Amino acid sequence: MTNWTKIDETVKKWIQEAGTNIRASFTRLLSIQAKSNPNDLVTNVDQETERFFIEQIRTEFPGHRILGEEGQGDDVQSLEGIIWIIDPIDGTMNFVHQQRNFAISIGIYEDGVGQLGYIYDIVHDELYHAQKGQGAWMNDVPLEKLEKVPVETAIIGISSTWLVNNRHFDQTKLVQLAKDVRGTRSYGSAALELAYVASGRLSAYITMRNAPWDFAGGKMIVEEAGGIVSTVSGEGLNMLSVNPVFAAAPGLHEDILKKYLT
Ligand code: IPD
Ligand code: CA
Ligand code: CA
Ligand code: CA
Repeated sequence: MTNWTKIDETVKKWIQEAGTNIRASFTRLLSIQAKSNPNDLVTNVDQETERFFIEQIRTEFPGHRILGEEGQGDDVQSLEGIIWIIDPIDGTMNFVHQQRNFAISIGIYEDGVGQLGYIYDIVHDELYHAQKGQGAWMNDVPLEKLEKVPVETAIIGISSTWLVNNRHFDQTKLVQLAKDVRGTRSYGSAALELAYVASGRLSAYITMRNAPWDFAGGKMIVEEAGGIVSTVSGEGLNMLSVNPVFAAAPGLHEDILKKYLT
């Protein structure tokens, strides 16, 4: 039997250490590179942080596999066994340009089922975490179970990509959604936006293209807080591929799905 509580204690220690190192990097010169396009950034700190987690996991839990955004982990093609899905810095553009609104995100899955989830907002020292069946917390304070939110009072996280025509949506319906809700926000970190859904700072989050490392930690935390995470057509997320992601409080998830997304 896997001792998840023991793993939880260990991960929290590593996250604090990684956070201290990232904070210290603010006073150093960053090495910034572009990946798939000029706006897709990666820094030495993203890579070093991913390496830090990989080294710790390989030493402490040699049987576990690692799927990391910067590609230094394993070539994960199936969900069998225990897999750590890691985004060392989610919101790299914010990290580079603003030194805020970024987070470490980790989801630990066993045979495709989320067991532990972490999102650490380093600058605000806010650690969100969840353990399957046990609930979700922010800095060890339990998150209140999410309740139904009406569309009219909802604040939704949605990025500018929805302004552009795309195959997932009827754009006129999305414009209507933006008009009907109380407000829209865009923080530029999928992980933080999911953490905000879990804690009620946002009522929903909609995005076109998230990779497993963007949502693995957040999905666990939102679900343990009583929210729902799916694709924009209401299906389960594929943990090994890119998905359009829709997370929301209960009730609101159903309402938005029915009226605006299908
Ligand atoms: C990005 C952020 C961003 C989302 C992108 C992600 P990264 O992650 O989460 O908010 O819109 O789709 O790729 O590259 O900063 O880790
Ligand atoms: Ca990236
Ligand atoms: Ca990311
Ligand atoms: Ca990243």
